[in-house]
Amino acid sequence: MSGSQFDSDVVIVGGCGHVGLPLAIAFAERGCRVVIYDISEAAVELVNAGRMPFGEPGAAPLLERAVTAGRLAASADAAVVGTAEHVVVVIGTPVDEHLNPNQTAIPRALAGCAPFLRDGQLLVLRSTVFPGVTALVEKMIAGLGVAIEVAFCPERIAEGKAMTELFELPQIVSARSPRGMARASALFSLLTGAIVELSPEEAELAKLFTNVWRYIKFAAANQFYMMANDQGLDFERIRQGLAMDYPRAADMPGAGFTAGPCLFKDTMQLAAFNHNNFTLGHTAMTINEGMPLYLVHCLEQRFDLPAMTVGILGMAFKGGSDDIRSSLSYKLKRILEFKAGTVLCADPYVTTDENLLPHEEVITRSGLLIIAAPHPQYRELRTAKPVADIWNVLGSGVLI
Ligand SMILES: NC(=O)c1ccc[n+]([C@@H]2O[C@H](COP(=O)([O-])OP(=O)(O)OC[C@H]3O[C@@H](n4cnc5c(N)ncnc54)[C@H](O)[C@@H]3O)[C@@H](O)[C@H]2O)c1
Repeated sequence: MSGSQFDSDVVIVGGCGHVGLPLAIAFAERGCRVVIYDISEAAVELVNAGRMPFGEPGAAPLLERAVTAGRLAASADAAVVGTAEHVVVVIGTPVDEHLNPNQTAIPRALAGCAPFLRDGQLLVLRSTVFPGVTALVEKMIAGLGVAIEVAFCPERIAEGKAMTELFELPQIVSARSPRGMARASALFSLLTGAIVELSPEEAELAKLFTNVWRYIKFAAANQFYMMANDQGLDFERIRQGLAMDYPRAADMPGAGFTAGPCLFKDTMQLAAFNHNNFTLGHTAMTINEGMPLYLVHCLEQRFDLPAMTVGILGMAFKGGSDDIRSSLSYKLKRILEFKAGTVLCADPYVTTDENLLPHEEVITRSGLLIIAAPHPQYRELRTAKPVADIWNVLGSGVLI
């Protein structure tokens, strides 16, 4: 990336986040000079000290190396956006409390950067966007009168696998002009040899379809789980039996709390895009979001919950993660606080919840335990207390 009129190769807007920071680190690993612009001053400070603001396996040593080598620096000053040839935007794009997407999140973030955008830059949208946002941004950029090409290149990593998947997954790249496409392809070719070219509209749907497909698959498994469980049958025994040496069923997931910052909200984004005509997506939402209620309903039949202390093990939205965003463990906690005597919670990774207790204390004080996130540590859990384990972490089935 030498010979450019810019001081840096890449600036990542929102680069201290779960997607932006691994991407910044990955570009720095490939020798780019990377700058981060992020409005979180606390996260900027941590990153400049070479420390990760959240857990992501394999990222910490690479971040430290990049910062020490001077290849990566963060700032809360939007002026840094003008210093780099490639401007990659990867801010959060959540739905609101009424499940409405916010189509203006990206344009508003960009409006803050607009005074610093310069001729010759390539603007890459990397967030998962409501379809049509790329065209909206193209219009906005045209209105600014700067010679900037716009690309949409969605991030497809899963949290916890970022530092391998960024170098392994094919990169979907889209832009309206051949030059924009070529520049975006060249940028992401630094990470991987496999580039998939689509139009911006195709790429926007490709990203949403990917997440929604997963969300629907998990919902199907969760509904199968509830059906089997209502018959007193162990869904995991059935699933393992039917998938045994049978490739057409190999992709059937196990039951679990399907949650986190992406799958649910992207299903709601796609539903809104399709004028709320998305029965499959809405049904998947009621199934997946209904899992904590179903679980508590089953436990109520077997245990005198009001007289009991219930311990929830695992508050993150997925195993091995410290991320509690949209975690169904918290929904479970709220339901149990209404139904049970006392609710105690623990998590070996989460550092952002001051109400968590040490595991030993939760296990000792509880009369019933629920494994709500499949953290690997729980495979070693040995207790005589009853354990509800819909993830089959203990390997003894999922029947509740
Ligand atoms: N988390 C995932 O696993 C994942 C995977 C693929 C795609 N995505 C998509 O990537 C996007 C980002 O998700 P995330 O999980 O990294 O979110 P995040 O909340 O972890 O990170 C967003 C970052 O943007 C910063 N920010 C917010 N507004 C800003 C602004 N106006 N200017 C500069 N910085 C700003 C925040 O401080 C934060 O550090 C979303 O669209 C998400 O759907 C996420």
